[in-house]
Amino acid sequence: MKRPAKNDTSLRTFPGPLLLLGAGKMGAAMLEGWLKRGLAPGKLIVLEPQAGKAVKGLSRRGLKLNPKGKAATAAAIVIAVKPQSAPAAVPSVAAHVGKSTLVLSIMAGRTLRFLQSTLPVGTAIVRAMPNTPAAIGRGITVAVGNAKVSARQRKQASDLLAAIGAVEWTSDENIMDAVTAVSGSGPAYVFLLAEAMTKAGIAAGLPAPLAARLARETVAGSGELLHRSDLDAATLRQNVTSPGGTTAAALEVLMGPGGFDELLTKAIAAATRRGRELAG
Ligand SMILES: NC(=O)c1ccc[n+]([C@@H]2O[C@H](COP(=O)([O-])OP(=O)(O)OC[C@H]3O[C@@H](n4cnc5c(N)ncnc54)[C@H](OP(=O)(O)O)[C@@H]3O)[C@@H](O)[C@H]2O)c1
Repeated sequence: MKRPAKNDTSLRTFPGPLLLLGAGKMGAAMLEGWLKRGLAPGKLIVLEPQAGKAVKGLSRRGLKLNPKGKAATAAAIVIAVKPQSAPAAVPSVAAHVGKSTLVLSIMAGRTLRFLQSTLPVGTAIVRAMPNTPAAIGRGITVAVGNAKVSARQRKQASDLLAAIGAVEWTSDENIMDAVTAVSGSGPAYVFLLAEAMTKAGIAAGLPAPLAARLARETVAGSGELLHRSDLDAATLRQNVTSPGGTTAAALEVLMGPGGFDELLTKAIAAATRRGRELAG
């Protein structure tokens, strides 16, 4: 048999069972990504009281939905319930944790310390922070593991997260509040940019539907260009700015005192502080 390449993120050879706790928006997006990457539905166990049609349909293809009886030891467990459901929900997976089980949590603000105190002693745990573009497989996730996570489990976590987008690792859990403030909350800033451009376009004399369409497609198209380009954002910006031209006139305002840089620095600092407060 051909051995999978080291950077192969296919889940065809992923050892089962893979248990998903919470198949809401994020959990369902991950599930969809895993299946697309070749994970067999028979390797999946889903614990979700309000399973949607798609998950229920998969139970006809071997997925085990809220199974009763003796708990199977899972190769990996993904926790995707809301942080406030965690104290009630997380203990329900403890019986599925074995010696080599990896637990991967995507709950915002729930620390490794919290997870370690809720799961059996010695469990290998990865805490990860994805963002909403995960819903279309274009998220970015930052992950941090505890000391029990082996190289193999780290690769497993990367493969599971790659199903919803790009993955970065850190060894410093303290930066997770800043990560949340930049990429976790970041999609909201980008949507706000589209809203603000729409309002400004209307103020400049455009019909509202046209202003909204121009703002939406400009944000989306520029994001895609940034995504596909090897150039950094500053170079792409400079490339569309002729000296003395219209873009330069706007950038003088946006990059001036009280402009974008200052506002975003303040906004991201506020979100980081809030993350720390919520974590307690
Ligand atoms: N959405 C994002 O952009 C985003 C970004 C980064 C991180 N996250 C994290 O991802 C996690 C999930 O977010 P989401 O937006 O996907 O939330 P969601 O749509 O509310 O999904 C959570 C799911 O878990 C279910 N659940 C609750 N208690 C359970 C239990 N005891 N056993 C099994 N399932 C249970 C919920 O069912 P009920 O509806 O019946 O309660 C719900 O279907 C959160 O911790 C969030 O912090 C989300």
